[in-house]
Amino acid sequence: MQLSETALTLGIETSCDETAAAVVRGGQEILSNIVASQEEMHANFGGIVPEVASRRHAELITAVVQRAFDESGVDWPDLHLLAVTRGPGLVGSLLVGVSAAKGYALATGLPLVGINHIAGHITSSFLLAGDDHQPAPLEFPALALIASGGHSDLAIVDGLGEYQLVGFTRDDAAGEALDKAARLIGLGYPGGPAIERAAKKGDPAAVDLPRPDTKEGFEFSFAGLKTALVRVLEPGGVEESEYLVADLAASFQQAVVDCLVRETIAAATHYRARRIIVAGGVAANRTLRQEMCDAARERGIDAYFPPIWLCTDNASMVAAAGHYQAALNGPDDLTMEVDSALQLPS
Ligand code: KG4
Ligand code: ZN
Repeated sequence: MQLSETALTLGIETSCDETAAAVVRGGQEILSNIVASQEEMHANFGGIVPEVASRRHAELITAVVQRAFDESGVDWPDLHLLAVTRGPGLVGSLLVGVSAAKGYALATGLPLVGINHIAGHITSSFLLAGDDHQPAPLEFPALALIASGGHSDLAIVDGLGEYQLVGFTRDDAAGEALDKAARLIGLGYPGGPAIERAAKKGDPAAVDLPRPDTKEGFEFSFAGLKTALVRVLEPGGVEESEYLVADLAASFQQAVVDCLVRETIAAATHYRARRIIVAGGVAANRTLRQEMCDAARERGIDAYFPPIWLCTDNASMVAAAGHYQAALNGPDDLTMEVDSALQLPS
């Protein structure tokens, strides 16, 4: 479908534990970006409780959409497109966003696109986010690493909306590994930011941990790393460990970062990518950002990251991905369904 450079898209994201809505102009310019996090609620349980998450999305969604309008100064008649995450994610959570979006589409007659959450994360690297942030240039092919709580994917980006999955994790995702490690060393939920904070005062070489390598394609494997940490902490757990929490955190973080950088650089080299883009919650990690940039630069490749506030789940990335997907393939009809295991095309 035809979408102008000033077309306005409302994005809705409810795939996990963030209820989010945003208005984006022309697929790049963020006019509002509202994220209602359920982090504190789930922290009481040490992780996300799906039933609690979907109920909370249902309570919040209308107010979050209204705030996205209030902060952007945009209203229903100004919009050109609706975009909503349809997978992957928690099925009950996805259903709240998709049902709301279908209701809005029916009531307003606006076209609607269902978005792959991973494609959304990739698109976040191309959003304009203030003068001091450099978005990824629209030059392709690029190699994308999407590292989050649910995914550690590598994808070739041939253009916005054109993705091919070339690598994934055999077991745990990078963020999931960090979340599990944080629980083991008593740092709470969500684990990634907690490990990063604790690691600041630690020695990344203090604890000898493996860098699991599947030796096949560009696959990650983080389960063995967690098991290695369990062994280091045996038999008395973190309380009786000979290691400091800071050293455990720094060493675990370093092992995860080393694996992510190794496979990403190998894939970028193999596919002759001109750019590397890194997105997803784990892309907020400063050690990963620094070490990926350094390793890429050594090979003459530029690496790009969204600003920290766009790394974790948000709806701007969904609105932007919607703009490009609708321009490329047209809108979906209202029979579009959630798919909790949706993947990028391979
Ligand atoms: O993309 P995201 O918000 O949600 C999913 O789609 O999963 O990613 C959440 C994940 C969590 O595992 C969290 O621990 C991790 O990203 N994360 C981080 C950081 N901030 C969030 N991991 C490392 N360092 C961080 N600063
Ligand atoms: Zn995500």
